Amino acid sequence: AKRTFASSSTLNNVIKNVTVIGGGLMGSGIAQVAAQAGQNVTLVDISQDVLKKSETNIQNSIGRVGKKLYKDDPAAGKQFVEESLSRIKYISDAQKSVEQADLVVEAIVENLEIKHKLFKSLDEAAPSKTLFASNTSSLSIGEIASVTKRKDRFGGLHFFNPVPVMRLLEVIRIPETTDESYKAMMAWGKAVGKTCITCKDTPGFVVNRLLVPYVAEAVRMLERGDASAEDIDIAMKLGAGYPMGPIELGDYTGLDTGLFILEGWHKKFPDNELFKPPQIQKKLVQEGKLGRKTGEGFYKYT
Ligand code: CAA
Ligand code: NAD
Repeated sequence: AKRTFASSSTLNNVIKNVTVIGGGLMGSGIAQVAAQAGQNVTLVDISQDVLKKSETNIQNSIGRVGKKLYKDDPAAGKQFVEESLSRIKYISDAQKSVEQADLVVEAIVENLEIKHKLFKSLDEAAPSKTLFASNTSSLSIGEIASVTKRKDRFGGLHFFNPVPVMRLLEVIRIPETTDESYKAMMAWGKAVGKTCITCKDTPGFVVNRLLVPYVAEAVRMLERGDASAEDIDIAMKLGAGYPMGPIELGDYTGLDTGLFILEGWHKKFPDNELFKPPQIQKKLVQEGKLGRKTGEGFYKYT
């Protein structure tokens, strides 16, 4: 009987079925927080190997969250973990995965052409009500959305690594995003436990527009020999209260990822000195020293 009191637009705003495309670092985290919040999640990747790995990573990470949330009640913690895990389906067919979706969050490689190809095919396969969002770090949401016929139901949902821990979600509106779509995305972000802020479709939105040049300047500082990597990191942790120093953070995010973002912006905005890719970072990436994930970047990890 309750349903009859709700307007159709309110009902349309209820997101229960979420499809996350890309089962890597970010996609598996996004799938996890949605499942923890009680939603039905479909996680998609082109690689079966990745899907297997993401399942293991999600199990480990939900285990940590469960332990923390249910410190004094291990049985309830176990139930939370099992129920959350049971809400996630792992599949490799992207078109099929969106047939029942209320929301699609894309977290595949940071490449405009590949994202275009994916969104074109999803646009054909998904019902017209389905909201589309990209988790891109550095590309324009408007440019990504341009290949679809649903710019009014398109936005950015930008999460932070590690997704289960970082509390922020940037919600990006493009001029075409309707109020209804925007509100549904904000409500969904809140439902998955994040504090949402509203951003325009500008390079790097808020966080990366500040963080990427900051890390690059720290690398340039190291390049100039102004201070050692260790001292730069100690400085920002103890002098500015950051949980990680900028050099550590560069290694944590991936030096290739950081360089890729800088190179893209440098090409688009050649006059902005802040976006100039540092030489020593280019060299490390060429040598395959990408940071924590390869065991070496500015620091060595054993
Ligand atoms: N899953 C679940 N829980 C996790 C986790 C994961 N993957 N990683 C860490 N945790 C939990 C730990 O269990 C721990 O919980 P307790 O406090 O209950 O013990 C807590 O988080 C802290 O973890 P650790 O003790 O292992 O380590 P820490 O205190 O050094 O915190 C950190 C780790 C949260 C990563 C912290 O160092 C940090 O906030 N660093 C900065 C991260 C950052 O800036 N991220 C943004 C990068 S930019 C980006 O993502 C955007 C982009 O587009 C590139
Ligand atoms: P990742 O390399 O860990 O994962 C990407 C996954 O996408 C891979 O597993 C790959 O197999 C899969 N994939 C590629 N093409 C696909 C397709 N057509 N269909 C289905 N799956 C496909 O990358 P990531 O770090 O998780 O980043 C994903 C997105 O999130 C990027 O747009 C990135 O800019 C953004 N992002 C990254 C971070 C970060 O700190 N790493 C933070 C916020 C946002």
